[in-house]
Amino acid sequence: MIEQNDIRNAYTLSADFYRNEKLFELVRENIFARSWQFMTDSSRLKAPGHAVPITILDGFLSEPILLARDSVDQLHCLSNVCTHRGNLLTEGECHVGTLRCRYHGRRFNLDGTMHSAPGFEGATNFPAASDNLPKVPLEQWKTMLFANACASDQLFPFKELVADMDERLGWLPLEKFLFDSTGAREYLVKANWALYCENYLEGMHIPYVHPDLATALDIKDYRSEVYKYANLQIGIASGAQECFHLPPSSPDFGDRIGGYYYWLFPNMMFNFYPWGLSINVVQPLGQELTKVVFLPYVWDESKRALGAGAALDRVEREDEEIVERVQQGVKSRFYKRGRYAPRWEKGVKHFHELLKQYVPEIE
Ligand code: FES
Ligand SMILES: [Fe+2]
Repeated sequence: MIEQNDIRNAYTLSADFYRNEKLFELVRENIFARSWQFMTDSSRLKAPGHAVPITILDGFLSEPILLARDSVDQLHCLSNVCTHRGNLLTEGECHVGTLRCRYHGRRFNLDGTMHSAPGFEGATNFPAASDNLPKVPLEQWKTMLFANACASDQLFPFKELVADMDERLGWLPLEKFLFDSTGAREYLVKANWALYCENYLEGMHIPYVHPDLATALDIKDYRSEVYKYANLQIGIASGAQECFHLPPSSPDFGDRIGGYYYWLFPNMMFNFYPWGLSINVVQPLGQELTKVVFLPYVWDESKRALGAGAALDRVEREDEEIVERVQQGVKSRFYKRGRYAPRWEKGVKHFHELLKQYVPEIE
């Protein structure tokens, strides 16, 4: 008997998902507002006294937070909203002893505790714990920092998000990967964020949409693995194309891997190539508008233009163009939903199942 969630008889999401504003909002609150989001890497906060304000998913969650390294070298993630009347506290990256609010001069230590509050002489029960900056959950995988906009009810423990990536690629010296700010890119895509993720989650379109990339990969050996909150696609390098020199401890030792494509629920892609790592974050802006951020971390610059990790900008534009066409298509009165190609679309199905798990209203 075929199980109900067997990919061979399963259907993709109803097209309603890409049109329904109510579902878009449910996804924002039930999923994104409780999800782990990539912030930056720890080298951005090397020395005590450094503070970096970041807005979690600007234009969608728009949650202002602050990363800070205090005088005893502890890293903190805090709300960047002054506990007095709600002014945004830190305006730009800075190096300070205390954080001072520009509105009425309240000061905070870099661990978030209130330092001083001019004008509050005589106030009773002051300062209380609620006058300190709220702590924002912060987690780290190697050098990479992740925050969660939800203080106490996260979707799942962070460890479960990165466990499989760590087990497989823990041998990579991420501390030697340097962020290349000049190579960072932002793309505005006129499509629903989930369509962009779905496209990423299958290699089936590579020969059709990315003719150049298709020559760097041996597409018949392309494979994918599904984990609890992440999945992995493995691209095998074709012919003499650049590949990883894997250590004997790697489960893939002996294979010619051109790229490891990790997707972390709900919207992050960690793409490892012989030259380094391209982190892509898919940021919803509206039902039909998405910003995609590409953040390159370079390990070996000499391999940057080789193999499956080359010409990422071109590959992105090819993806963007097809995804924008799909956005038009899923609005058609005739399109209802589709089926999954069993050999290729396990990752897409996994994504859809997680969406439904957290938003049961999705069909
Ligand atoms: S809002 Fe910050 S001191 Fe008043
Ligand atoms: Fe693609």
